[in-house]
Amino acid sequence: MLFEFTDQNFLPQSLRAVILGILSLAKRPPFGNYNRFVADKILRLSAEIGGRVAVIELAAGDAPLTEELSSRETNEISAIIPSDLRPNTERFNYLASKDLERVKPEYASSDLLDLKPFTKNDLYICSSAFHHLTPAQKQAFLSIIKALRRPTLICESLRHNLLNHLFALFGFVPGFLYPLFCSTRREFFTSAFWCWLFPVAPLIFCWDGLVSSLRIWTEKRWQEELQKLDWLDTRIESSAFSQFVWVNCGDS
Ligand SMILES: C[S@@+](CC[C@H](N)C(=O)[O-])C[C@H]1O[C@@H](n2cnc3c(N)ncnc32)[C@H](O)[C@@H]1O
Repeated sequence: MLFEFTDQNFLPQSLRAVILGILSLAKRPPFGNYNRFVADKILRLSAEIGGRVAVIELAAGDAPLTEELSSRETNEISAIIPSDLRPNTERFNYLASKDLERVKPEYASSDLLDLKPFTKNDLYICSSAFHHLTPAQKQAFLSIIKALRRPTLICESLRHNLLNHLFALFGFVPGFLYPLFCSTRREFFTSAFWCWLFPVAPLIFCWDGLVSSLRIWTEKRWQEELQKLDWLDTRIESSAFSQFVWVNCGDS
């Protein structure tokens, strides 16, 4: 019943790009600090499992974590591979051009439900995307990563509770301000069209945020689902507006 506009094929590409841009803006200063926080967590987890991992940013969208991680000097990460069902080739090219050594985008469509190993040392990151799957697809995805024996961090920039449902409605603030944060003239005019002249982007962003927070699993649900799969190492951590689930089979 509930749907997110960004999952719909009828959405014009330029509008989808603006909505994903608003999402990136909402997760970085001055609005938030989510991407930095997740990147710090990824580096800690990489060190914990022995380092030199290939970070696979699944369902990457604009690949905000690839961008954040590639700005860090670190020996923990040997490669960063953004991937998506609908890869944003232009954006992936831009990120690869800034860090030719480490950023190696996957340009073919990569479905969370049809995952293949990328390298021997994959560390999967699924950020702000797990909730796009239906409950049955969520369970299928967990079974897939368990079968592939890849350590995985699943994180969400919202949680399933009343505070977060209300918080999602404030998405119109970054939505209306987004054009002011665009770095190129083309981005500015496209976003000014969708955010000011014909302002559907801020409204869709609020709707998708609310639906996301309703679809995200509660901590209790996560515990139940993880128990069914009998992982070796699982951790569920939450802050006021985000949630992190770490699953690891222990032998990677
Ligand atoms: C809300 S965006 C999040 C993007 C990015 N991870 C971020 O944090 O900004 C959700 C992304 O999930 C992708 N997606 C949705 N279903 C997917 C699937 N089954 N397999 C791979 N990617 C998927 C969409 O194309 C979209 O780019």
